[in-house]
This record gives sequence, C-alpha cells and structure tokens, in this order.
Amino acid sequence: MKIMITGATSGIGYQLAIAYANLGHQVIACGRNPSKLKQLISLNQNITSLCFDLTQYQDYPDLDSQIDMLIFNAGDCEYIDDSLNFDAKMFERVININLISVAHGLEKWLKKVNKKGRLVLISSSAALLPLPRAEAYGTSKAGLTYLGKTLSISLKEHDIEVTTVHPGFVDTPLTQKNNFPMPMLVNSKQAADKIIQGIAKGKAEINFPFFFVFLMKCLSFLPLTLWQRLAARMV
Ligand SMILES: NC(=O)c1ccc[n+]([C@@H]2O[C@H](COP(=O)([O-])OP(=O)(O)OC[C@H]3O[C@@H](n4cnc5c(N)ncnc54)[C@H](OP(=O)(O)O)[C@@H]3O)[C@@H](O)[C@H]2O)c1
Repeated sequence: MKIMITGATSGIGYQLAIAYANLGHQVIACGRNPSKLKQLISLNQNITSLCFDLTQYQDYPDLDSQIDMLIFNAGDCEYIDDSLNFDAKMFERVININLISVAHGLEKWLKKVNKKGRLVLISSSAALLPLPRAEAYGTSKAGLTYLGKTLSISLKEHDIEVTTVHPGFVDTPLTQKNNFPMPMLVNSKQAADKIIQGIAKGKAEINFPFFFVFLMKCLSFLPLTLWQRLAARMV
C-alpha cells in the first residue's frame, strides 16, 4: 500500500509512519520540520517525505501518484483558561490546524485515493464529551468526528472507506505539556498499534483505550445539568 500521513514528525504520526514502513508499505511522511523528516526517512527506505505547513493551504504539494490510504493525523491543542475573555485568535489557530487543514487536504488529495482505499481522521475522545478548557480543541475534534462520519456515508459510492479515530490520552509532546492527571495514558507506539489493528479490521471507528472511551460515551448520556456539576469539579 501507499500511505500518506500528516504530522509524521512526532508522536502518533511518527509511530504510524515507522510501523507501516516496517510492514513493507510505502509511506509519504508529511511534516513542517525538515530535520525531523530527514531523521525519519533515514530510518527506513520505504519512507519518503513532504515538507510543508498545513496552515499554509496554498503550499500543499501535488502528489505524483495515486495513494491507498490518506491519514490526517496532524493536530495541536491549546486550552482556553479565561472563557469570559475569549481568545478568538487562539480558537482560530486550533480550528485551522485540526479541522480546516483537513478540508483543504481533502480538496487537494482525496481524488488521489484509489478505489477500495481509505481515509483516516485522527480525532479525539474529547469530541465525545464537553470538557473544561477544551472549547477550541473539543470543538475542532467534534467537527472532525462529524466530518469523518458524514464522509463515511458519502464516500461509500466512490468505494472509499473512512475511519474516524478517538484516542484517549497518549504520551506525546502534545500531552507532555498537560499539568493535570491523564488517566489510562498509553504510549504512542501502543496508540499506533491500536490504529493499525483497527484499520486492518476495516473499522469505521477506532476507540482506545476501550474502557476510557466507553466511560466518556456513558458520561455523554448524562443530562447536561448533571455533567456541568461533575465537570466543574475537574477545573
Ligand atoms: N496525544 C494525545 O493524547 C491525543 C489524544 C487524542 C487525539 N490526539 C490527536 O492525535 C494527533 C497526533 O497528536 P500527537 O499527540 O501525536 O501530537 P504531537 O506529537 O504533538 O504531533 C503532532 C504532529 O502534527 C504536526 N503539526 C502540527 N501543526 C502542524 C502544521 N501547522 N503543519 C504541519 N504539521 C503540523 C506536528 O509537526 P511539528 O513537529 O512540525 O510540530 C507533529 O508532527 C492530533 O491530531 C491530536 O489531536 C492526540
């Protein structure tokens, strides 16, 4: 298979790139850091790289060949600490990288995905439940989950499958800046293994750790007034 992965210079994307290359697949690793990409391609000759910033939509490169799988993994997280003094610029930054860049990527590359190919969106378990301080991140991921699920319906007739992924906490540079407890934390290799296993089974939705996401889904059924009280204790 030929697989394109955004955000392959770090964390989950990096582990996905290495794991798929080790399985013998051709990987196009995307990132904006040339030295990290150089280090990555030196690890396995199945990996090639494309260097660009996903928020510079006009800079997206053309692909010179078809691909079998397109994994939108790149993302960032910033928290809103003072929602009364709402920081629209920050909100825009997070939405741009986590959601709008995916729309531009779809416009640019979706037609390059082969029939029987797959689109993978790395969303987050934060999409499932309104979490304190996650106004920007959670909104972007809830949008991404909706997008993935809608596309899974509309792309069926084009013979393209869609997988939406909801990870819990994964130990990566993105979460290493968090100063709160992260229950059921897994490492990025465990996360990549779960994603690869789920994709191999053809799953439309991948959730891990299972119990963590199950709990999030159960909590999402609570009346909002009750969840407001529970969530307020987390702040
Ligand atoms: N870690 C978790 O607990 C967790 C949980 C749920 C979902 N997720 C999601 O999983 C995905 C991967 O996250 P991660 O934890 O592996 O984070 P990470 O280690 O910080 O990796 C993020 C990747 O995205 C790239 N990226 C960010 N902004 C970019 C931009 N403007 N242009 C191009 N590339 C950009 C980064 O490249 P640079 O190296 O150039 O910055 C990096 O390769 C994200 O979508 C995240 O929301 C993570």
